[in-house]
Amino acid sequence: MAKKPNPIWAWHKKVLEKNSMLLTVGILGVVSVGGLVEIAPLFYLDTTIEEVEGVRPYSPLAVMGRDIYIREGCYTCHSQMVRPLRDEVERYGHYSLAAESMYDHPFQWGSKRTGPDLARVGGKYSDEWHRDHMRDPRSVVPESIMPPYAFLEETPLEIETVEARMTALQRLGVPYTDEMIENAESDLHTQLDPFSSNYDAFLERYPGAPIREFDGNPEMVSELDALIAYLQILGTMVDFSTYEAEADENLR
Ligand code: HEC
Repeated sequence: MAKKPNPIWAWHKKVLEKNSMLLTVGILGVVSVGGLVEIAPLFYLDTTIEEVEGVRPYSPLAVMGRDIYIREGCYTCHSQMVRPLRDEVERYGHYSLAAESMYDHPFQWGSKRTGPDLARVGGKYSDEWHRDHMRDPRSVVPESIMPPYAFLEETPLEIETVEARMTALQRLGVPYTDEMIENAESDLHTQLDPFSSNYDAFLERYPGAPIREFDGNPEMVSELDALIAYLQILGTMVDFSTYEAEADENLR
């Protein structure tokens, strides 16, 4: 005796699959349930990013440097995300954490790597190396195809715009306090002057920020000062000798 077909399958085949409107409605229904299950919880979570100790908003000088990085289109050749793959981790260091770019608006992960990834370039080279490299990349890396950015050290930084830039980031959710924004200009100068009387207050606001004359010219606060301050903090905020990812525990 032939097996009796399952009545639901029979109905599916006869009615649903032969009626395109009904099938469309059915598909929409199924997809929406799937979508709701995946998307709805995201609205109830305070954050989808695991907070990590050490990650803090950029100092005013670094904010200026980041904006120059974006203005000059450095992201067209450089990514800022070390992927969790062995070759990447061996070359660049610990893979990037979501928290490390949580205050980046817009984020700089990128996917184009004409040059190397810069997510962990902070502390890799001296300020002098960066200055020489920006003046003329081929003076330090003879085979480099990176264009020179010599004008940066000759261009005065538009310091008076820093408050507005930080206010914009504050509105996007970066936890800058009003005190940080009020002190933005003076903090920017403090970061360039290890003998400043504001040294301690600055470090309280921006723990671990490097304080020195970045472009080697104390006569002028240049765009290069800001860019090097930004490059030197990239990937250095998390102390990976003490960091343990929650997910890593499950892998052990
Ligand atoms: C046309 C593509 C291109 C652009 C645009 C570009 N770079 Fe590069 N960059 C490279 C290449 C290629 C290298 C590797 C050779 C070298 O070190 O010069 C490099 C290397 C670097 C390095 C050294 C990285 C390391 O780990 O050795 C830094 C830092 C850097 N670039 C910063 C910048 C900044 C900042 C900008 C924007 C002002 C920029 N680059 C724009 C192509 C580019």
